[in-house]
Amino acid sequence: MKIQVFVFLLFPFVTVSDDSVPSRSPYAKYESIFNFGDSLSDTGNYLAVGAPGLPQIAHLPYGETFFGNATGRASDGRLIVDFIECDSYFKKSLFLVGEIGGNDYNIPFLFLGASIEQVRPLVPLIIEAIINATTALIEEGAVNMVVPGNLPAGCVLAYLTRFQSSNQSDYNRITGCVDAFNEFSKYHNQLLVEALETLREKYPQARIMYADYYGASIGFYYTPKLYGFSGGSITACCGGRGPYNFNISSFCGVPGSTVCKDPSTFASWDGVHWTEAAYRYIAKGLVYGPFTSPPL
Ligand SMILES: *[C@@H]1O[C@H](CO)[C@@H](O)[C@H](O)[C@H]1NC(C)=O
Ligand SMILES: *[C@@H]1O[C@H](CO)[C@@H](O)[C@H](O)[C@H]1NC(C)=O
Ligand SMILES: *[C@@H]1O[C@H](CO)[C@@H](O)[C@H](O)[C@H]1NC(C)=O
Ligand SMILES: *[C@@H]1O[C@H](CO)[C@@H](O)[C@H](O)[C@H]1NC(C)=O
Repeated sequence: MKIQVFVFLLFPFVTVSDDSVPSRSPYAKYESIFNFGDSLSDTGNYLAVGAPGLPQIAHLPYGETFFGNATGRASDGRLIVDFIECDSYFKKSLFLVGEIGGNDYNIPFLFLGASIEQVRPLVPLIIEAIINATTALIEEGAVNMVVPGNLPAGCVLAYLTRFQSSNQSDYNRITGCVDAFNEFSKYHNQLLVEALETLREKYPQARIMYADYYGASIGFYYTPKLYGFSGGSITACCGGRGPYNFNISSFCGVPGSTVCKDPSTFASWDGVHWTEAAYRYIAKGLVYGPFTSPPL
């Protein structure tokens, strides 16, 4: 099976097919996956254009767990889209539109110091852009669409590091995540779910599925041990010099950064992206669990 990945927003729009992960299921219901998204689902396009801004993904330890080498994936191994390809029972083409929006929020929050109140009015615009992209594909004849929501931003180590607060009530007592940012992600997801409902009415012939990345991953933070994340869910496997083992100046792969012994015991790979182990759980929740509606 082929995965076509279209990466946009921060990254140039390019296409590649990738046969590096063989399909194991003879009952494949979809023959190919077309993916439109950012570095959470990029299987190599950004590297193919030179990886400006994130040259580390061209080198180990990126890729160490599964490929034994860097493939341009921003993780230690495979991504959600790789596992969906391997595990699903698919026949026609599946279009994965996202995850989109992560970068649109990362830039104002992490680099421009914007507040939640300042960024909140952008959310309907981001949703509109996602709906526009999905609409364009349906108009071109795509039928099976998976549109993912955002992951919990308040549990992303880059956010936790940027927004260190001395007020303990800013943090969730169980997870250690920043509740206000998780609420922000939920707000994005809620608007997306509503917009997809409208889109289903407009295109009843399309099968428009919402993939709840938030729901499929929030358990990592409440019950990390259940997932084998003994190294922790809010500590980066690869990085250094910060309270969450994350510091932009010792980002994974730069000289002076360190990498944990066993990435499968961590949810976060480099403080921004998740580990192969975490992506595998998310994909499992989407394909076999309750986190895609209607189900895949
Ligand atoms: C690993 O990847 C680099 C660039 O991505 C490539 O130059 C090198 O030949 C690869 N090594 C192996 C053993 O595949
Ligand atoms: C979505 O598409 C409409 C119609 O083409 C356009 O007017 C609007 O600007 C687009 N919105 C975004 C956020 O791209
Ligand atoms: C701490 O945060 C809570 C909720 O975010 C807020 O209600 C409270 O006023 C804050 N306390 C201080 C001392 O800033
Ligand atoms: C990040 O590393 C720099 C250089 O070692 C250090 O000065 C800074 O305090 C670190 N930041 C955090 C959040 O620990």
